Amino acid sequence: MSEKIFTLKDNTTGVAAELQSHEGTLGPEVIDVRKLYAQTGKFTFDPGFASTASCKSAITFIDGDEGVLLYRGYPVEQLAAKSSFIEVCYLLLYGELPTQVELDKFDNSIRTHTMINETMLRLFNGFHHDAHPMAMVSGVVGSMSAFYHDTMDIQNARHREIFSHRIVAKLPTIAAAAYKHTLGQPFMYPRNDLDYSSNLLNMFFSVPAEDFELDPVAVEAIDLLLILHADHEQNCSTSTVRLAGSSGANPYSAIAAGISALWGPAHGGANEAVLNMLEKIGSVKNINKYVAKAKDKDDAFRLMGFGHRVYKNFDPRATIIRDMCHKVLEKLGRKDDPLFELALELEQVALKDDYFVEKKLYPNVDFYSGIIYRALGIHPSMFTVMFAIARTVGWVSHWQEMITDAEHRIGRPRQLYTGPENRDYLDVAKR
Ligand code: ACO
Repeated sequence: MSEKIFTLKDNTTGVAAELQSHEGTLGPEVIDVRKLYAQTGKFTFDPGFASTASCKSAITFIDGDEGVLLYRGYPVEQLAAKSSFIEVCYLLLYGELPTQVELDKFDNSIRTHTMINETMLRLFNGFHHDAHPMAMVSGVVGSMSAFYHDTMDIQNARHREIFSHRIVAKLPTIAAAAYKHTLGQPFMYPRNDLDYSSNLLNMFFSVPAEDFELDPVAVEAIDLLLILHADHEQNCSTSTVRLAGSSGANPYSAIAAGISALWGPAHGGANEAVLNMLEKIGSVKNINKYVAKAKDKDDAFRLMGFGHRVYKNFDPRATIIRDMCHKVLEKLGRKDDPLFELALELEQVALKDDYFVEKKLYPNVDFYSGIIYRALGIHPSMFTVMFAIARTVGWVSHWQEMITDAEHRIGRPRQLYTGPENRDYLDVAKR
């Protein structure tokens, strides 16, 4: 990393700070403000962290202006076309593409850690029948620290590895248990003879009463969606995992915190929100009315699935998913479903609208993923759970990177205080 010195000067007092800049392998230079307070007595102010790098990371690179997304240096388009989710998991966790022997060993380890402790299954009976699956999944993942505490020494590299395999392997099983609870159907145990995505679909859709045939297009679509959602550098949920884990908290709790952050409609909850929005719009003839609402400053309505904090050109994941979306709809004969027609028409209207063009609001990954999930028969309440399954490997990779970073400290932001100044307590009778 090459380094330069930046001088930041307060013109009123003449106090200056000498700040180093750092260059990564790609992306903008960063100014290191760690010594700013010691040199000037001032903090930086950056709500939403739009200009702040919170850590060094070698996992994922995004160029939002150019629409570039790299996992460990590999373009996501190449991984989507040539790799599998399980190989991408290895790449994110270990930093390199595996040899065949390494891949087989990793795949086997994931396949043989898919079962969850039987007692954990009973937790689901404690949830209300109409509990949201994200509520159940975040709760049950948090509970994993009560089941797998024998391997939770975060300073032990082997413990960290066991944790990473366990959570990647068990997330689909926990998600399927939540889904079956919602449906009132019996839980289906994982099958180790199936690959990751086939096993996931089998646990979701099979029932003990009859045979279930996996559709290869559905398996391909799920694997692609998992690859595209696997990591996205310091997004809200990943930063949450890092922050929660920075205290030395056990990793299951940190991942549960990430799942909770992902649930929000401005983040991973957007895929479910897109479907709810489409149902609310109801018909192609209402599109203009809702686009006008989205543009109205006094109306809280936003076009869900449009816009992104980082991508101001296009979301490369959305381009790939869009093609898969058409393939899935074609294959399943759903192209004339009114909701899909509505989604495609809304996309066209927004892409040509001056407001969306000027503000660089393009369809994001979640606009199309929900449409695919719906076509595959997955209930909207499970859409964000699907995102959580995919992102788990990203969260784990970031957590591992943080724990093994010699510079890592507990995350503890500062603030610009705007409350009352120091004042004396008044007895209740005198207020
Ligand atoms: N519909 C209408 N207007 C929008 C939308 C939208 N979807 N998104 C942004 N805008 C407008 C804002 O009102 C704002 O207008 P202004 O400049 O006149 O104030 C401007 O565009 C910039 O928007 P911000 O909210 O400041 O941008 P930010 O980077 O903070 O937010 C976000 C990005 C949260 C994704 C936002 O675009 C949004 O809410 N989109 C809808 C929800 C969504 O699809 N989230 C999924 C993101 S992808 C993911 O997490 C996997």
